[in-house]
Amino acid sequence: MDRVFLVTGASSGIGEATARRLASEPGCRLVLVARREDRLRALAGSLPAPATWIAADLTDEDAPSRIAAHVEKHGGRLDLLVNNAGASWRGTFGDEGWENVRRTMELNFDAVVRLTDALLPLLRRSAPSAIVNVASTAGRISRPGAGAYSASKYALIGWSDALHAEEAAHGVHVGIVMPGFIATEGFPATELLAKPWTRWTVSSPEKAAEAIVDVGLRGRAERYVPRPYGLIAVLRIVAPRLVRRVVSGGAGKALTTATKPGE
Ligand SMILES: NC(=O)c1ccc[n+]([C@@H]2O[C@H](COP(=O)([O-])OP(=O)(O)OC[C@H]3O[C@@H](n4cnc5c(N)ncnc54)[C@H](OP(=O)(O)O)[C@@H]3O)[C@@H](O)[C@H]2O)c1
Repeated sequence: MDRVFLVTGASSGIGEATARRLASEPGCRLVLVARREDRLRALAGSLPAPATWIAADLTDEDAPSRIAAHVEKHGGRLDLLVNNAGASWRGTFGDEGWENVRRTMELNFDAVVRLTDALLPLLRRSAPSAIVNVASTAGRISRPGAGAYSASKYALIGWSDALHAEEAAHGVHVGIVMPGFIATEGFPATELLAKPWTRWTVSSPEKAAEAIVDVGLRGRAERYVPRPYGLIAVLRIVAPRLVRRVVSGGAGKALTTATKPGE
């Protein structure tokens, strides 16, 4: 029986790389989700494994039920859910206010929870199965201009850790992937890539995809991409004053402008 892998945000960046990587697994079928149908259709046609797609805005009220119905109709099992779709709209709270927090939470947190809610019965029925939530190192450390984004990823990590403990008994493994800077459409990292002394901080969608496979198919609970970014989380706990100084001072400002308009 084919294993079924569903990837949200499969039309570009980390999601597309993940779909390509997962399609190389033996005996699998893919379900691709994003808004841009032309991209999903082209991707499905280029994969070495069978794939179907659903064009959906994940913030729409009926998106989770449409996706669940599609999976039921195409075999009725789900072995891996990769909650990857997400975005960042930069701006300070003083400038952008509640509306920016609202729209960021709606996509990066609420939509993930709503889709998981709709697909959890299928995942339990297909156990052993897995969920990978694509968070961010911004879910461990917060920088000026990215408060809304960080809030959504901190929330996602907190919720995922509880779900990890809750779902183990049902055979659904839940894990998180926390990328640092990955050059993609939504997070181009243009300025970091332009300078030789910052270029090394930027990783590739393929590396993030491999981390997603580590968590989703190999049972890891969490992965940073690249791995040394895990030090950031440690520093935030053991040296909070230092981290605050760096983030609020020159280095923090440099990083803030360097990553516009992405993370
Ligand atoms: N790249 C980085 O530096 C970085 C770092 C840390 C974490 N991340 C996380 O990695 C994930 C993937 O980001 P990426 O870097 O690959 O960015 P990306 O290339 O911009 O991809 C974002 C994906 O999300 C989809 N998407 C956006 N809004 C959507 C909506 N309302 N409904 C359905 N799909 C939607 C987009 O497809 P459509 O536009 O076709 O809908 C696209 O496929 C995100 O959760 C992001 O927060 C990225």
